[in-house]
Amino acid sequence: MNTHLSTAEGGVAAAMQLIGGASVEARAGRRIEVVCPSDGLPFASIPRSGDEDVDAAVRAARQAFDTGPWSRMTAAERGRCLTRLGLLVERHADELAALESRDTGKPARQGRADVAATMRYYEFYGGAADKIHGDTIPFLDGYTALTLREPHGVVAGIIPWNYPLQILSRVAGAALAMGNTLVVKPAEDASLTAIRIAELALEAGFPPGVFNVITGYGREAGAALSAHPGVDYVTFTGSPLTGTAIQQAAAVNNRGVTMELGGKSPQIVFADADIEAALPVLVNAITQNGGQTCSAGSRVLVERPVYEKVAAALAARFSKLVAGPHDADLDLGPLISAKQKERVAGMVAAAEEAGAAVLARGSIHPDAPASGYYFAPVLFGSVDPGMAVAQQEVFGPVLALFPFDDEADAVRLANGTEFGLVAGVWTKDGARQHRVAKKVRAGQVFVNGYGAGGGIELPFGGFRKSGHGREKGFEALYDMSATKTVVFNHG
Ligand code: NAI
Ligand code: MG
Repeated sequence: MNTHLSTAEGGVAAAMQLIGGASVEARAGRRIEVVCPSDGLPFASIPRSGDEDVDAAVRAARQAFDTGPWSRMTAAERGRCLTRLGLLVERHADELAALESRDTGKPARQGRADVAATMRYYEFYGGAADKIHGDTIPFLDGYTALTLREPHGVVAGIIPWNYPLQILSRVAGAALAMGNTLVVKPAEDASLTAIRIAELALEAGFPPGVFNVITGYGREAGAALSAHPGVDYVTFTGSPLTGTAIQQAAAVNNRGVTMELGGKSPQIVFADADIEAALPVLVNAITQNGGQTCSAGSRVLVERPVYEKVAAALAARFSKLVAGPHDADLDLGPLISAKQKERVAGMVAAAEEAGAAVLARGSIHPDAPASGYYFAPVLFGSVDPGMAVAQQEVFGPVLALFPFDDEADAVRLANGTEFGLVAGVWTKDGARQHRVAKKVRAGQVFVNGYGAGGGIELPFGGFRKSGHGREKGFEALYDMSATKTVVFNHG
């Protein structure tokens, strides 16, 4: 049953946050309107939590970790809870996909893809929970030394609005598999599916207090959560600036953090590449989810002999792209908010002023509501690598295209930003594939492909300004736990 949208008040459904297994209002009784980006109209509301609410959630998580039934569960039992949650996600797939699309404006098929990935996170980490173990270490005569992998304790997850279900679930899957308890703060622009997942987690058998969700603004609930001394570890996905603020807050308590801070990810197209195979992937990597993807392929570097050909083919594809309401399921939906649209439009205007050439623009469907946050995709050509549009994350459907001269030049340009999250390399030359994959500074490198989204099994994370720590795959289980060394002196 869809409980969180059932208490409609004056046409606005009032969602509740989940603390210690109970659906609760913010103590101060304040709320935030939930807006659908496709028409800019409110359709629900969420609690606007502050310090007191955060404190209650952290206490609930602390208690569940220290003395609740969770603290006595075996790894296999934790895995079973996760597996059951995955099955519940599958059973509620249509509901979750529709809710995610409405809350974020993402096209219907993207909402469905996100639910499929969400299900996979719980399936993968459900299976992994009892397959992580420590070592025995050859040590001095008369001693036995071994390592245990222990949970941090209370993990705080601060989640962005671009892939709310997926990012929540990659955090929750790994953290819960290792036996931590969770306080999650989803983004104020997209909190509804996080609440729903926490409700389903109760149904799946997670004891109350293991999976808590508090809603509210970043500068209020988010700041209080990252600074709370009852939190043992903080994981965050979002902007570098907010990442710095969260690390500073966590540093006051000297807590560990995982930071996934986006990128300016390059795709390198060599002259020998299968260009027909590359084209749809190049376009999708920057238009999927309206370009609001941490791993968006926002720069395309093309070897000079094929530059004009690739530019023309990309321009032809870009000019056909259409943005429209989420339920129309076009190439793109709207952006998440009026603020984000303004930000993207500002960066595009600045690039034009700086002299970047617009090679093509997509369009907005004529029936799209004028009150929605639509932005037509833009392809910039012959971009100067020093320009802001080539250096900064736009987080919109804006692609910057550059020519390069040779392999060394390609690597230099690819590594020429402060970021290092993902890279794509397109070439048929096997030796070059290996060379470039090694030289490119990125947490993931795709050869003759580009894997934005999905890839539950594949470790993911950044270098430099893209952040630190690794999520997804088995690697995330190490981030979400700590090694304890135990030494026996038995003579
Ligand atoms: P943001 O990084 O400020 O928000 C992400 C999350 O952090 C939200 O849950 C928010 O409530 C929380 N937050 C904000 N300030 C906080 C604080 N002081 N303490 C604790 N939590 C806080 O991102 P925003 O402002 O929504 O978007 C701005 C830009 O950030 C985008 O244009 C994009 O470039 C980047 N971004 C990158 C994402 C990624 O996946 N790497 C996701 C979202 C945004
Ligand atoms: Mg929304």
